[in-house]
Amino acid sequence: MNSDFELNVVILAAGIGSRMKSNLPKVLQPLANKPLILHLLNTLQGLKPAQCIIVYGHQGELVKQTICQNNTNDFAINWAFQEQQNGTAHATLQSIKYLQQSLATKPKNNFTLVLVGDTPLLQIDTLQKLITTQMQKQSKLTLLTAKVANPFGYGRIVRNAENQQISAIIEEKDANETIKKIKEINTGILLFDTNFLIQNLPKVNNNNAQKEYYLTDLIAMAVNKNLPIASNVLEENQSWQTEGVNTKLQLANLERIYQKHQAEKLLEKGITLLNLNNVEIRLSQEIICGKDVIIDSGVILEGKIVIGNNVKIGANCVLKNMIIEDNVIIEPFCHLENSIIKNNCSIGPFARLRPNSELGENVHIGNFVEVKKSMLGKNSKAGHLSYLGDAIIGEDVNIGAGTITCNYDGKHKHQTIINNKAFIGSGTQLVAPVEIGENAIIGAGTTLTKTAPENQITVSRSPQKSINKKIKK
Ligand code: UD1
Ligand code: CA
Repeated sequence: MNSDFELNVVILAAGIGSRMKSNLPKVLQPLANKPLILHLLNTLQGLKPAQCIIVYGHQGELVKQTICQNNTNDFAINWAFQEQQNGTAHATLQSIKYLQQSLATKPKNNFTLVLVGDTPLLQIDTLQKLITTQMQKQSKLTLLTAKVANPFGYGRIVRNAENQQISAIIEEKDANETIKKIKEINTGILLFDTNFLIQNLPKVNNNNAQKEYYLTDLIAMAVNKNLPIASNVLEENQSWQTEGVNTKLQLANLERIYQKHQAEKLLEKGITLLNLNNVEIRLSQEIICGKDVIIDSGVILEGKIVIGNNVKIGANCVLKNMIIEDNVIIEPFCHLENSIIKNNCSIGPFARLRPNSELGENVHIGNFVEVKKSMLGKNSKAGHLSYLGDAIIGEDVNIGAGTITCNYDGKHKHQTIINNKAFIGSGTQLVAPVEIGENAIIGAGTTLTKTAPENQITVSRSPQKSINKKIKK
């Protein structure tokens, strides 16, 4: 954000998450096909923290590995191991050496934001506002609280009746009936003055119902010392931002909230969604699109998608990392991945583009055609039931139904080259490596093993004969 302060982030992610009933650590559970913790890390990028310390424990190596492989942020990530899950204060304490180092280099306005690893929908402006509040109020800690309809399970915010100042946070398990009625809860997101945190964290004890070291005890400590505490409140219609994932039901609910927001972003860009509630958006970056793009029900968009003007994507298509130019029609049930489709093409229904394929302008790929690592020049057509793999296909080529490029000899892949205006009859096998000359015709049923010369008809099949039926008695 700016250089007036130093921001450290601590993400608590050592919990087991046993209620997920999964072998995968909770923070690696997928939301929109991306691990929960990566959603959070991506959000943090906008805050430009000096470092992010991840407190890990359960299946830590897998968490580490996944983050290292997929992290696109440029801030430093440090790792703090928590052997036993003795509570949120104990977890935060594991990061203290990194916080001390930070404080040594920047003693003034040094802040530490403590987050939990399982709140993927947290928005950056909420965090920015927390920092602003802390700066304005000069508070030792600033809490993010939320008003929720059902506060069960959360720490409750207790406020002083006279001035509405926060006096304590009381955990569900330590709460009496009056406290349990409070609907303002601790989101688990706290911004600390780093010096205050380092001084007081080691003083937290575990005298409570769960015998855990509660990070929230620092609030009572600050109150006792008359140190300034501030808070920002998320109203009920915003509390989804800090909802955590403890069960598969909660994960599913957050997925729906996320999907609704993503769908709204597409609508804002001018895309027509024929069924707002049935599009799955798992993009790794914002979609780039032209005007008059129509997306039908059941479409899944993944990775990086670029779409031109006047494009229609039919029902139940899966598109992953695709570039689609103008006036393209994709009929229902197509699976398209890492490929380029140029202007005026028509694809499907039931077509498959595997990675590294490129379709020139006005190409038609019809039903049950699989294209892998192949190029088709403009106006070429493969209408039905074909496999085109490792092929370079020129312009105005017609590929008959049932054409197969036999690209694999059991050890290596080989290329098929089909030059402009060639006509491939139905039911042919093109045994690669092989080339078909310009304007050549390949007779139906041919198994081609040698070059087919240009301008000629090449056919390889045994002559047709008819044999008299012998009538057996
Ligand atoms: C915590 C808060 C509670 C708040 C709630 C919000 C405390 C004492 N309570 O409760 O006020 O309403 O979050 O969701 O802070 N973790 C560790 N190591 C531990 C314990 C927890 O890394 O030893 C991590 C967990 O993986 C999780 C996060 O800390 O990501 C929160 O832990 P959890 O046990 O879910 O906290 P709650 O009891 O729900
Ligand atoms: Ca707990």
